[in-house]
Amino acid sequence: MALKVGKGAEAPPFIVMDVIAAANARAAASAPGDPRVIRMEVGQPSTGAPAAAVEAATAAMRAGETLGYTEALGIRPLRERIARLYVERYGVTVPVARIAVTVGASGAFPLAFLAAFDRGDRIALAAPFYPPYVNILTALGLEPVLLEAGPESRYQPTVAMLEALDPPPDGLIVASPCNPAGTMLHADELAALARWCTGHGVRLISDEIYHGLTYGEPAATAAAIPGAVVINSFSKYWSMTGWRVGWMVLPEDLARPVERLAQNLFISAPGVSQVAALAAFDADAELRGHVARYAANRALLLDALPKAGIDRLAPAEGAFYLYADVGHLTNDSAAWCTRMLAEIAVAATPGVDFDRTRGHRTVRFSFCGATEDMAEAAERIRRWLA
Ligand SMILES: Cc1ncc(COP(=O)(O)O)c(C=O)c1O
Repeated sequence: MALKVGKGAEAPPFIVMDVIAAANARAAASAPGDPRVIRMEVGQPSTGAPAAAVEAATAAMRAGETLGYTEALGIRPLRERIARLYVERYGVTVPVARIAVTVGASGAFPLAFLAAFDRGDRIALAAPFYPPYVNILTALGLEPVLLEAGPESRYQPTVAMLEALDPPPDGLIVASPCNPAGTMLHADELAALARWCTGHGVRLISDEIYHGLTYGEPAATAAAIPGAVVINSFSKYWSMTGWRVGWMVLPEDLARPVERLAQNLFISAPGVSQVAALAAFDADAELRGHVARYAANRALLLDALPKAGIDRLAPAEGAFYLYADVGHLTNDSAAWCTRMLAEIAVAATPGVDFDRTRGHRTVRFSFCGATEDMAEAAERIRRWLA
């Protein structure tokens, strides 16, 4: 008799992971003299963890610390240091009791969604979107409600889009700066969305993973908004993707429920990563160097890509992505990216990962690599499209 396979097994792939695998295969198969593969598909810094973080982790291991399970919400010194970040960065006081250390932002999503919503609840979010939001919501039996956003709203949701929903959703996910467009909700826009959510009993979930990576005004936090859940991570600004450590700022009513869920689902975030994350707070000079490189890469590409024929770019206010409308070049962004990788060894992510209805005309270029690579990629693309 056939065995049952659950609905969760239908979760679509996170396509960028497949693109990464294709770029790895292309790099592995290259012969001497072939052009080096330039990686503009990955959403992770090309740098490793800050030296201070690596030293702290190494010292803890050398000292024979057990580095075993920690409390489900994380080690106290890290939670206290995260609380201090809110005072220093945003002038917001958050009690340590409301801070939960998680297995990256990815580990925070199921905790937040399970604690805040019930099966069948409708959760609004802008499209294009970070694909796991939709895939995790769906796997948990929640219904994503996509708000088609474009250049008019800088790819961000608006109150008007929410007003148009009947009935109102149960939750709203925002990300600022967002992935893939790199655009932000400015403080007044975030405040307007928050007011609407409060007025309609809608739980706001704010993914703030790209805070610290902004090129104009700093990003506004939802940490002071009553009822909101803030999600953040050491993966991007702190350059610690593989350490799998992030956090949430929880509203009071969800702190204990999330703790119970975390005890059952994850037990804790990796102990060694928590030690490293704490030390990473002392690495600001090194991290500011990364941000300066991203800013230089962004400026270089904003100049060079239009000259190469890719001129419809979202105004990347933060993160490290340029989201390009390539509809004048292709109607099949996945095939276009495959060809670009095969013919000029530049890897980028097709928009279909982020937007199932319009993504066949868009591509996301990640610019967190080396500046020489960005210049070389833009030049290869110019010659390719000429
Ligand atoms: C918007 C957004 N949220 C969350 C994540 C997941 O990050 P983490 O490594 O902390 O799980 C990513 C990773 O690319 C992202 O772009």
